[in-house]
Amino acid sequence: MMRGLLFSLFAGVALAQTDVESSRAIHPFAKFKNLASGANTTSITTSAPTATRPPLECFQVAEPVLTPSGATRRDTSQPPALAPADQKPIEAAADSASASSPCAVVLMEHTFANSYGSPFVGQYTPPKCDFDHVVINFTTLVSGRQFDRTGVMYLGDNEVWRTSTAEPTSYGIRWEWLKDMTAFQSLWKQPQTLIFDLENIVDNTYTGLLSTTLTATFFKAAGKPKANGGPSHPADLIIPISQRLGTAGKPSQFVYPAQQATNTVADFPRNANRAVFTVDVKGQGNEEFWWSNVPQSAAHAFEATYGEYPGYSPFREVQVLVDGHLAGVSWPFPVIYTGGVVPQLHRPIVGIQAFDIGEHEIDISPFLPLLCDGKAHTFEIKIVGLVDDGKSAATLSTTTDDEWYITGKIFVWLDEQRSVTTGTLGNLDPTPPVITLSQHLTQNATGANETLDYNLFVSRKLTITSHVKTQTTQGAVTWSQLLMYSNIGGVSNFGNNNLNAFGISGADAATGPSTTYATSYVYPLFSNSTFDVAPQGNLSLWAQVDQGLHVEVSGDVVFPTGLEGFVATGLLPAKDIIKGSVVSTWRNGTASYYRPGDNSYSTGTGRTHQVFSFGGINTSGHVSELYHRDVSAYNDTVTADQVKIAGRDVTV
Ligand SMILES: *[C@@H]1O[C@H](CO)[C@@H](O)[C@H](O)[C@H]1NC(C)=O
Ligand SMILES: *[C@@H]1O[C@H](CO)[C@@H](O)[C@H](O)[C@H]1NC(C)=O
Ligand SMILES: *[C@@H]1O[C@H](CO)[C@@H](O)[C@H](O)[C@H]1NC(C)=O
Ligand SMILES: *[C@@H]1O[C@H](CO)[C@@H](O)[C@H](O)[C@H]1NC(C)=O
Ligand SMILES: *[C@@H]1O[C@H](CO)[C@@H](O)[C@H](O)[C@H]1NC(C)=O
Ligand SMILES: *[C@@H]1O[C@H](CO)[C@@H](O)[C@H](O)[C@H]1NC(C)=O
Ligand SMILES: *[C@@H]1O[C@H](CO)[C@@H](O)[C@H](O)[C@H]1NC(C)=O
Ligand SMILES: *[C@@H]1O[C@H](CO)[C@@H](O)[C@H](O)[C@H]1NC(C)=O
Ligand SMILES: *[C@@H]1O[C@H](CO)[C@@H](O)[C@H](O)[C@H]1NC(C)=O
Repeated sequence: MMRGLLFSLFAGVALAQTDVESSRAIHPFAKFKNLASGANTTSITTSAPTATRPPLECFQVAEPVLTPSGATRRDTSQPPALAPADQKPIEAAADSASASSPCAVVLMEHTFANSYGSPFVGQYTPPKCDFDHVVINFTTLVSGRQFDRTGVMYLGDNEVWRTSTAEPTSYGIRWEWLKDMTAFQSLWKQPQTLIFDLENIVDNTYTGLLSTTLTATFFKAAGKPKANGGPSHPADLIIPISQRLGTAGKPSQFVYPAQQATNTVADFPRNANRAVFTVDVKGQGNEEFWWSNVPQSAAHAFEATYGEYPGYSPFREVQVLVDGHLAGVSWPFPVIYTGGVVPQLHRPIVGIQAFDIGEHEIDISPFLPLLCDGKAHTFEIKIVGLVDDGKSAATLSTTTDDEWYITGKIFVWLDEQRSVTTGTLGNLDPTPPVITLSQHLTQNATGANETLDYNLFVSRKLTITSHVKTQTTQGAVTWSQLLMYSNIGGVSNFGNNNLNAFGISGADAATGPSTTYATSYVYPLFSNSTFDVAPQGNLSLWAQVDQGLHVEVSGDVVFPTGLEGFVATGLLPAKDIIKGSVVSTWRNGTASYYRPGDNSYSTGTGRTHQVFSFGGINTSGHVSELYHRDVSAYNDTVTADQVKIAGRDVTV
């Protein structure tokens, strides 16, 4: 399956033709986003606010999540398609002891207005009920005009969730997002300063106030596929790699490259038997559409007609360094937020990961012989692109344009207090990536740069093996990654149009005497967009954006796989030995936007189709599909929607 997908991904890339765009270092999408969002987007096609019209329900298509009611859909406001009668009660809920009944706590009820620098700050005290699972519910209501905004939730110095908001309509939008927070159990068991940073701006133009409610439900449940290993419990300790401003009631993300994303940890536990580093990053400004940035040498190619282009190439690598040694990388999933490219692509179906930006897991257990020596150690997250010579030579850059929001965390599992982990550190000199670049600029008859085409391929292999001795095991511990990147893209029409056929595919694995973890992923993206401003200022935008995500994961995963709800409710085929999960989705859309020069109105229409499949994989690689949704939207309205749960059609 992976192979087929990969092949079609790279086959689809053959039709490179390019479109240009430029403007004072503002990417066309970002430039257009400013114009489009700043315009009076709500007139004409969107009727004036009426008291009777209910808000539009927005959603991100996703697999159900485990709640006390079982496998609960979080990609619709409709009643769960899965009727309670279809589900076995979850194990602990059947337990009559009052200590095990779920309890729900309201963590935040807050309206974000001018909230730059003013996060919500609350004090969290663990509830008085017994729990081994935590799920949050974030519900937002907003009307008026507003950009997509970034929301980050922290427990103290640790970022636990990064989201973005949907762009509203005049008559309002609403959405819910449920997230399994069980991985952060050690934090939930302690009092915490809860910081929710949602930077919003309200003025005469941007009228949208974000009214939010955040609840957490604590409960006991069987949430792991029994036959599969998986860590027997969530991490014992979570070490933040952040600005660590939690006790001051401030958000702790680093803003890169203005700030170096690094911490020195003086007290890394000497009894660690496993450590996994996770990174959470989000590109903003000139880095938001990094996947369509141009080679650095071409940043000024369209200066005369469009302006400066964001550079450092359309490739990014997030690096995790331990005492300066490269421990692993994340080639980020290109999340497109709800104002991205053309806003009408994202309403009411928001983009993949728009409500829940994924965190890449990098197992740093091969570094335990070093980390457990009782000395201070430095952890750093760097993001790099490429610099090139205008032809075919390119190397990793040392920085990027502005800017990235970054945090990291180390999930640590511990042996008994008195134990000290030792061993022999393996070879720490991974070979650099292999980069293949070609590019071609064309001019019109009077010498103005008209088009730029580029082909960029990057691959990287990274393996670190150490001998590690913990309290109960000893042997080889390995982290390995194999990554491929391809982007056939360009710019045309003197800087105004963009075309990208982008793809990342990768496979990561961790092995050790008591650990196995494996994931493989494919991130295809095709984007074709045009941008036109007439002499009177009339603005027209058009885009086709097709994006997919295919992720398989098995073994000792830090974050929930999505199987939990199906395990707890008995919906997994009992006879099957499930070794992991697979998410496979495609969303394809086209949208246009127009606004006359006097900005008196704007209009736009989008069409989106998404097919989403989630399933369990057994040990012979067979996928049992557990959740399937095929949904289409046109002009802000869902036009077709089919849902299957464990093979049964539950379309309402
Ligand atoms: C939106 O329209 C109002 C009324 O026509 C006008 O006062 C305001 O300046 C416009 N906003 C923008 C950003 O064009
Ligand atoms: C999530 O919270 C909202 C508002 O607090 C509530 O209306 C909704 O029913 C909750 N959703 C679930 C699935 O519990
Ligand atoms: C065309 O692009 C090249 C490469 O960026 C640049 O050196 C040159 O000045 C540009 N030509 C014009 C006329 O802008
Ligand atoms: C080439 O493009 C420039 C910039 O758009 C324009 O001013 C010029 O007239 C064009 N030349 C021809 C021959 O079309
Ligand atoms: C990109 O869109 C333009 C404008 O709609 C179209 O002419 C062109 O064929 C498209 N290119 C590809 C490769 O789909
Ligand atoms: C995996 O599932 C397939 C299809 O149901 C089945 O034929 C195969 O025996 C299963 N393998 C294992 C190891 O359970
Ligand atoms: C461009 O916008 C102006 C108003 O600023 C309007 O009068 C004109 O009709 C528009 N042109 C087109 C082609 O829509
Ligand atoms: C989306 O487009 C891709 C090719 O661009 C195609 O392979 C895929 O089947 C399409 N998916 C949907 C859901 O339309
Ligand atoms: C989109 O829907 C609105 C009603 O919400 C309607 O007035 C408009 O004509 C529709 N536009 C198209 C292109 O279907």
